[in-house]
Amino acid sequence: MEELLKKISNKTARIAVIGVGYVGLPLAIEFAKEGFNVIGIDTDPGKVEAINNGSSYIQDVQKEELTSLVQSERLRATLDYSLLKDIDAISICVPTPLNKTKDPDVSYILDAADKISKFIHAKQLVVLESTTYPGTTRELILPILEETGLKVGEDFYLAFSPERIDPGNKFYKTRNTPKIVAGITPKCTEVAKLLYQQVIDTIVPVSSTETAEVVKLLENTFRSVNIALVNEVAIICNKLKLNVWEVIEAAATKPFGYMSFYPGPGLGGHCLPIDPSYLSWKLRTLDYRARFIELASEINTEMPYFVTNKITDGLNVSRKSVNGSNILVLGVAYKKDIDDIRESPALDIIKILKEKGAEVIFNDPNVPFIKTDELKMSSVVIDEELLKKMDCVVITTDHSGYNWEWITENANLIVDTRNATRGINEDKIIRL
Ligand SMILES: NC(=O)c1ccc[n+]([C@@H]2O[C@H](COP(=O)([O-])OP(=O)(O)OC[C@H]3O[C@@H](n4cnc5c(N)ncnc54)[C@H](O)[C@@H]3O)[C@@H](O)[C@H]2O)c1
Repeated sequence: MEELLKKISNKTARIAVIGVGYVGLPLAIEFAKEGFNVIGIDTDPGKVEAINNGSSYIQDVQKEELTSLVQSERLRATLDYSLLKDIDAISICVPTPLNKTKDPDVSYILDAADKISKFIHAKQLVVLESTTYPGTTRELILPILEETGLKVGEDFYLAFSPERIDPGNKFYKTRNTPKIVAGITPKCTEVAKLLYQQVIDTIVPVSSTETAEVVKLLENTFRSVNIALVNEVAIICNKLKLNVWEVIEAAATKPFGYMSFYPGPGLGGHCLPIDPSYLSWKLRTLDYRARFIELASEINTEMPYFVTNKITDGLNVSRKSVNGSNILVLGVAYKKDIDDIRESPALDIIKILKEKGAEVIFNDPNVPFIKTDELKMSSVVIDEELLKKMDCVVITTDHSGYNWEWITENANLIVDTRNATRGINEDKIIRL
């Protein structure tokens, strides 16, 4: 162990990041910037080629920074797992989606663990960063790695350390976001802690990998439940004919015991709509129903229907039907100023409107096109003529690049799910 600790401390340890997506690439860059020699291993040849050409596909990763790290040979990408033979520390950042029946899909983790086991060697550290249910590190990964005959805590080290990246956040980046770490054994914790200390200001060790796994799920469940709560308050205020935004703003003046969350068109991204289900799934195996999680998911999933009902009601006032109406959706990324459309509720709204016969187009300054199994569309350019032609403009983002006064002036009807048009008083605006 001493030799590995020394290599980490003097930055001669070679690091591999497995899965160089939204989480893995920024992490790989952080290690490379600190002087480590880093390889990114991915199954997507497009990403591997892009990295090696210094071309960034992640909004938060600057091309210049990537290019300079690749040129100075601090960072490169590969499809080849056999390079792990020469690696000292491995960080796994592969996806953890849900399958068709909304159960955890840990196949990417299993695939990565299987491939690592072919090349694992003594004095190597393996850390799982993907969000997952409690028990994954110990019950799924450990047996695969120990099948090689190597012993955890003696020959190799295994830990879980959840990623907390917040895409688009201008202040909290990898370095200044405290990181939770837990090893299978105390030695594993020690090695993993030292590794992350090289690139992160504050490390928070916890007592077991299961605890660390639940910490991450608590963080995301907390947000999912609170967003569901304000979404329900939006529905309640709608019934009471009150402005939910005014209610929230006033409640937020309380200096203690209240934390602001805001309603919206639903939950999006790779984390909030998915991660809490990892916890509720695990609890179902223990004959317990995680009711808060299930209720929050139910309310958040209903929000796109609540929004489309508002659109229907708004069109109805001018004797129009959704069927045949021209509708412009502003913003398709799951939150403002980013380019990620995974699980975005805007996509659900578009699908529902199309199913009802609307002619739907979209604009998003960060998303040039949508290409999913069900939707293939390109972002349109908005001008006065286009806005005037629209029967309804649906705002699903409070993107900083839009001129809301100009949009309101030229639109016939606006359904604003984000209070982006706050301060503008026009009858044609319907708020959530
Ligand atoms: N995106 C976020 O904001 C965020 C934040 C915190 C935690 N997380 C968690 O981090 C994990 C990764 O999320 P992401 O958003 O980076 O996903 P992503 O899809 O952007 O990236 C994952 C990468 O892993 C690659 N991959 C898949 N299987 C592989 C394999 N067997 N070997 C090598 N590469 C493989 C994919 O090609 C992809 O490039 C997930 O568990 C997610 O829940 C994500």
